[in-house]
Amino acid sequence: MSAGLIARYRDRLSLEPGDPVVSLEEGATPLIEAPRLSERVGARVYLKFEGANPTGSFKDRGMTVAVSRAKGRGAEAVICASTGNTAASAAAYAARAGLRGAVIVPEGKIAIGKLAQALMHGARVVALRGNFDDALRIVRELSQKHPIELVNSVNPHRIEGQKTGAFEVVEQLGGMPGALAIPVGNAGNVTAYWRGFKEAGERDENEGSSPLPILYGFQAEGAAPLVDGAPVEKPETVASAIRIGNPARWEEAMAAFTESRGRVAAVSDAQILDAYRWLAAAEGVFCEPASAASVAGLLAHGLPVVEGAESPETVVCVLTGHGLKDPDTALGKAPAVINCENDLSAVERAVFD
Ligand code: F0G
Repeated sequence: MSAGLIARYRDRLSLEPGDPVVSLEEGATPLIEAPRLSERVGARVYLKFEGANPTGSFKDRGMTVAVSRAKGRGAEAVICASTGNTAASAAAYAARAGLRGAVIVPEGKIAIGKLAQALMHGARVVALRGNFDDALRIVRELSQKHPIELVNSVNPHRIEGQKTGAFEVVEQLGGMPGALAIPVGNAGNVTAYWRGFKEAGERDENEGSSPLPILYGFQAEGAAPLVDGAPVEKPETVASAIRIGNPARWEEAMAAFTESRGRVAAVSDAQILDAYRWLAAAEGVFCEPASAASVAGLLAHGLPVVEGAESPETVVCVLTGHGLKDPDTALGKAPAVINCENDLSAVERAVFD
């Protein structure tokens, strides 16, 4: 694979012929086999490690397309509401494109690494005394009133870019996985993966391709509107990235679960944190808490069951963001550091005792 999604997939994306390419060489992320997780789950499990994108999350896939299109249309500024990752990505791609960026985040509720990114990339960062859903409502109105491009996943080009995650999974496996486990917040990514799998399936039609994967989505228990079937007014979860009570892509996501014969289920914060730490310690893969919801869900709920179908042999868990984004949660969960005198025998005891 080579440089950047647009370079690789332009003919399958929504850009206009004259649009410039604003890229940080995103995508082409590793699909890592997870032997210990496979053993626990009873299927061959792979981790699609989206933390390997330039800003450390899957958002870069959507942002390269959305910001290229914005620039092509002559926009001078972009705006988004965010639980952190969209903000970091929008800020980086805006900087790259020479556009101004503004991000609205829920005050005190985004991981510190994401905040550092948005600030370093020169975006105007506004901390709203409200939650993500409030912020999204406000930026939607602002983008109607002012000439500023909205780059949340309500922007169709974001979904176009993010569907390439599914293209890569199919290329890397040499076919469709049996199931895809994915965390769900605003429900853009699951919508994008479904589109990507369908398009990849249509291309392979002549080769008698395998059936499309079962989509298996997971929300945090305190922020699980799709599971509850109703918006959550005050969403709460340790997985701040998916602390969302009223997903913008609600209907599309539910249609994707239904069409794929999959479902959406909830996992508790304790299950998320256990999976988060276990994955880092047992597989050597460090993702952020929201990302671990995919693994937590698979461990808590087991392989998806579809009447009249075999149990999936291959499952891909999408690890949406890098663990370094949120050092506070990591350190709160990790064992203590061992302080030690500057002395050989003291170090010996500290290491071996
Ligand atoms: N995982 C991570 C790490 C995320 O940052 C997000 C969403 C999701 C999963 C859920 O994806 O919203 O497409 O269902 N983060 C957004 C943000 C909301 O503002 O960064 P989704």
